[in-house]
Amino acid sequence: MKICICGKGGSGKSTVVKLMADALRKYGKEVTVLDSDESNTSLYWMLGFERPPRPLMDSLGGKKSVQAKMIERFSRGENEPEMSIWQQDLISPDLLGPGFIVEKGGIKLIQTGKIHQALEGCACPMGAVTREFLKKVELGPNDAMLVDMEAGMEHFGRGVETSVDAVVCVVEPSLESVDMASKVKELTRSVGAAFRGGILNKVASSEQEAVLSEKLKNAGVPILGAIHYHGEIVAACLEGGVLDAPRASTEMEGIVETLLS
Ligand SMILES: Nc1ncnc2c1ncn2[C@@H]1O[C@H](COP(=O)(O)OP(=O)(O)O)[C@@H](O)[C@H]1O
Ligand SMILES: [Mg+2]
Repeated sequence: MKICICGKGGSGKSTVVKLMADALRKYGKEVTVLDSDESNTSLYWMLGFERPPRPLMDSLGGKKSVQAKMIERFSRGENEPEMSIWQQDLISPDLLGPGFIVEKGGIKLIQTGKIHQALEGCACPMGAVTREFLKKVELGPNDAMLVDMEAGMEHFGRGVETSVDAVVCVVEPSLESVDMASKVKELTRSVGAAFRGGILNKVASSEQEAVLSEKLKNAGVPILGAIHYHGEIVAACLEGGVLDAPRASTEMEGIVETLLS
C-alpha cells in the first residue's frame, strides 16, 4: 500500500507522516517512508535518525544526469511522465545499496533528493524520480509506503500520484488549506487514484474543528480525523530529535484505523 501525504507548506505533512508511520507499525504494517520533499529538512530527525539516507538521485548519477535524460526526451517530443529512469521493471527497496535506505525502530527511510545550492535548477528531476520509484517499487502485502510530498500541487503535474493506492491531504485551519484539499481531491481522482480524505491538523478548539469540518464537507472532502494543536509537537520541533508526542499519537491511531478499514 502506497500512501501520499499532501498539503500546503507548514500544514503538518511531515508531522503526520511521522505519527502515521508509528501508528501503522502498531497495526502490524512494515513501514517505509519516502521523503519526496526537496526542501524539507526535518523528517529524518523527527523519525529519530541521526542523518538522512543518501538521496536516490545520487544512485542515478545525480540531478544533472536525470535532468539531461528529461531534456533529451522533451527534445524528441516524447511524454516525460512515461520516461524510464531505472532500467529494471521492479525495484526492491532492500536492494537499493548501502546508505540509500536506513532503518530504525522498524521504520525505514528513503529520500529522493534535496535542493542544496542557489541556481542549481528546478526540482523537476526530483518529481520524476519519485514518480518512477513509486511506479516500480515492489511492496509486499503487509508493506506500507508513506510518501512525504513537497508542498503544493506540482507533483500532480509530474504524475507522481499515478501509481499510489491512496492520497491523503493534511488540512490546517485556514481557507487556503481547505481549497487545497478540494483541489487535491479533484486532481487525485483525475489521475485515477483514490482520494481518502483530509486529516485536520493544528485544530485549537472544538469550535474551530466544527467550522473546518463544515467547510470540508461543503467542498466534498471526507474527513479521516483530527490531530489537535499540541504544545508537545511545537516543543519537539523546536528542539529537534525524535518527535515524541503521545497525545497526537493516540489521535493518529484512530485515524489509521479509519484509513485501513
Ligand atoms: N498538531 C500540531 N500541533 C502543533 N504544532 C504543529 C502540529 N503539527 C505541526 N505543527 C508545527 O508546524 C510546523 C510545520 O509542520 P511540518 O510537519 O514540518 O509541516 P510540513 O511538512 O507540511 O511543511 C512544525 O514545526 C510544528 O512546529
Ligand atoms: Mg515537511
